Amino acid sequence: MNIGNVPESVGKEIEIRGWVYRMRETKERVFLIIRDSGGIVQVVFNRDHPQFEEAKKLTIESSLIVKGVVKEDKRSPSGYEIIPKKLKIVHIAERFPITRDQSREFLLDVRHLWIRSRRLTAAMKVRSTVLEAFREFYREQGYYELSPPILTPVACEGKLTLFEVKYYDKKMYLTQSWQLYAEAAIFGLEKIFTISPCFRAEKSKTSRHLSEFWMAEMEAAWMEFDELQKSAEECVSHIVQKVLEKNSEDLKLLGREPKALEAVKPPFPRLTYTEALELLERKHGLKIPWGKDLRTIEEDKISSHFDKPVIITNYPKEIMAFYKPKDPRYPKTAKCMDMIAPEGYGEIIGGSERDTDINELITWLKKQGEKPEHYEWYLDMRRYGSVPHSGYGLGIERVVAWLCKLDNIKDAIAFPRTMFRFKP
Ligand code: 4AD
Ligand code: MG
Repeated sequence: MNIGNVPESVGKEIEIRGWVYRMRETKERVFLIIRDSGGIVQVVFNRDHPQFEEAKKLTIESSLIVKGVVKEDKRSPSGYEIIPKKLKIVHIAERFPITRDQSREFLLDVRHLWIRSRRLTAAMKVRSTVLEAFREFYREQGYYELSPPILTPVACEGKLTLFEVKYYDKKMYLTQSWQLYAEAAIFGLEKIFTISPCFRAEKSKTSRHLSEFWMAEMEAAWMEFDELQKSAEECVSHIVQKVLEKNSEDLKLLGREPKALEAVKPPFPRLTYTEALELLERKHGLKIPWGKDLRTIEEDKISSHFDKPVIITNYPKEIMAFYKPKDPRYPKTAKCMDMIAPEGYGEIIGGSERDTDINELITWLKKQGEKPEHYEWYLDMRRYGSVPHSGYGLGIERVVAWLCKLDNIKDAIAFPRTMFRFKP
């Protein structure tokens, strides 16, 4: 039986399999806290138990199987205890290197062991729900899941963060985003999504950037900018509500009060980039020249005014990726959006309508130092039955970090990769 189900078996005999999480001995008793994927439970061996001496041999992280009867016990850490009948030791662990109060860096060095900690286990459970909820949201609306190529010949999000890979005697890059391929695939499938790894050589050492991260992306034919924003806010709300439903215990263990997330329902506040600059000046005395991208400190200041994510639209066209189209209503801006999480967790979504004007695309590719001939295959999408279409990408680790109230994005992925951290 999984320890998570122990509360439903009071008075019954059960068998659990797990690991020694904590251990304490007195002359008369051995107190064990056993953990498995579902939680923790106390098992106490009294001196008169035939296996008392055997239980004393156990060490932290030893693996074992215990058969016994479940009893409610207010004093034990989970409120339940198992009165042991039979103990089977599976493996006696060597001295476990992780003890209390160890530095972040040490815990990252032994990530392969720390991954079994209760905190990381809880964060990975939340992550699993986030992935499931994104899939569920789009599947229910008739979207197909389409996996991207990981090796790509061109950049989607600018050359600066490309990872180069030796490809036989040529060079390729690890994908930064599925988007350009999604734009090709909507001509057959119309509505698609993916959840896949993305790679960016991020030189900045922040608590928000990974070199390898997972992006959940959607792309839809016929979809225009307003509908895109709605789809994004509804999807994020669905994810949050699903996490509240399935992971409230995990959130509490991580120090996140579930109540703080209850407000996350549509509609989210919307600001244009220009309105965001006004807000920064009015409320924070920050004068950002129009045309400059928002930095994380500015995003944090904006998000501090809202208890749910905020959608910022219409960034200056000049500083945006080549595929984001001019907005005829405000021609110096693009039909694009970022969604910023509350509490300073930064940008969780980037998306846009896609430019369908082939000449504009060529002009902006050139301006951004790219060779349009490398994008010929992509430009074909504007030659054969072009349609308005839109899509966005959601950073899985950013969302998990926000929902779990983590202080670093590294704990939102099992084995983080950053500029300085690539082992184990
Ligand atoms: O805003 P970005 O760069 O958008 C795109 O890549 C589009 N092509 C997506 C699309 O329209 N299909 O990235 C999308 C999101 C960001 O908002 C952020 O949440 C996350 O991906 N992200 C990162 N997360 C962790 N580490 C990094 N280095 C990240 N870079 C982007
Ligand atoms: Mg972005």
